Amino acid sequence: MSEQPLLQLENAGKTFHLKPMFGAAKEVVAMRNISLSVEQGRALAVVGESGSGKSTLGRAVTRLFSLTEGRVLFKGRDISQMKSRSESLAYNRAVQMVFQDPFAALNPAHTIRHHLERPLKLHHKLSGWALAEAVKGVLADVELDPDMALSKYPHELSGGQRQRVNLARALAVGAELVVADEPTSMLDVSIRKSVLGLMKRMKTDRGITFLYITHDIATAHYLAEDTAVMFAGQVVEWGPSERVIANPQHPYTKVLLSAVPDPAQRFVASEDGGRAFAKGVEEVRALARKPAGLPVEVEPGHFVRHRLTQLDAA
Ligand SMILES: Nc1ncnc2c1ncn2[C@@H]1O[C@H](COP(=O)(O)OP(=O)(O)O)[C@@H](O)[C@H]1O
Ligand SMILES: [Mg+2]
Repeated sequence: MSEQPLLQLENAGKTFHLKPMFGAAKEVVAMRNISLSVEQGRALAVVGESGSGKSTLGRAVTRLFSLTEGRVLFKGRDISQMKSRSESLAYNRAVQMVFQDPFAALNPAHTIRHHLERPLKLHHKLSGWALAEAVKGVLADVELDPDMALSKYPHELSGGQRQRVNLARALAVGAELVVADEPTSMLDVSIRKSVLGLMKRMKTDRGITFLYITHDIATAHYLAEDTAVMFAGQVVEWGPSERVIANPQHPYTKVLLSAVPDPAQRFVASEDGGRAFAKGVEEVRALARKPAGLPVEVEPGHFVRHRLTQLDAA
C-alpha cells in the first residue's frame, strides 16, 4: 500500500446554478465541503439516499464537470490542472465509470467482442492473436464464457452479464479506479451479490480501486473497507465500514440502517404507524441540512459531524 492515497477530495463542493426560462435563478448546493481519500487497491463506499449528492461526487471525480470549491487529487495531482492532451487521456483511461443502467455505456449495434477489442486496440495497440487472447483474458477476469458472450449483442445478455461486460471493459481500458454508481441496483436481488463479489476480486486480485456509490448501506461493507455516509451534499459520518454499520453515530446513518430505501425514492411514511418514523426522518433531514460542524472521532478512524444526541432516542 502506498503512502499517498490514489484519490483524494479536499473540501470539494459543487453548486449548480439554474437559470430557468421562467422564474428566478436558483442555486442547488449538490455537494459541500467533502474531504475523503481512497488508497490504491481499496474501496470506499459512498452511501446515502436519493438526492444526497453521491452521483455529483462520482461525476466530479470522472471530470464530467468541474468543482465550484476545493480539489480532487489523483496520485497527488489536481485533476483540474491536467490540461495537456496526453495527461487528460491518461486520466480518462485510469478512471472508469460503471453506471446503474448496464445498458448506459454499451452500444446496442455492436457485439461484446467489439466493445472489448476497441479499447485493447486503441490503448494497448494489440492485434491478431494477442488481441484475441487479451479479449478472452478480460472476459475470464469477469467470469464470462467467451464462447457464450463474444458474438452476442448487449440486449442478448442478462443485466448481470452486461454489468460484467462493463467491468471487463474497464479492465480492457486499463482502469486503476472504477467509479461504480449504483452498479447493482437495477439487477435482480439474486445476482447483486455475485457482481459485488466480482468487484471485490477485481480489487484484491488486480489491485483495482473502487469508489462504490450506493443507497444500500447494508452492501457497503461487503466490498468497501471504508464507508462515508452522505446526506444533503455533506459527509456526516465516515470510517471503517464495519464500525459505521456496527456503531452508527449520526441519526441519519441510523435511519439508513433501519430501512433499505428504494434507490429512486426518499424515505416515505409507511402505512402501519410509520408516521413517527417519518417525522423523525424529517427532523434528521432538517438538522443535517445545516452546514455540518467539525468532525469528532468517536473511535479510531471513525468520525461523525454533528452528533445530534437529542435525536438519538427517536
Ligand atoms: N446537472 C445538475 N443540475 C442541477 N442540479 C443538479 C444536477 N445534478 C444534480 N443536481 C442536484 O444535486 C443534488 C444531488 O444530486 P445527485 O448527486 O444526483 O444525488 P444522488 O446521486 O445521491 O441521488 C440533487 O438535489 C439534484 O437535483
Ligand atoms: Mg445518483
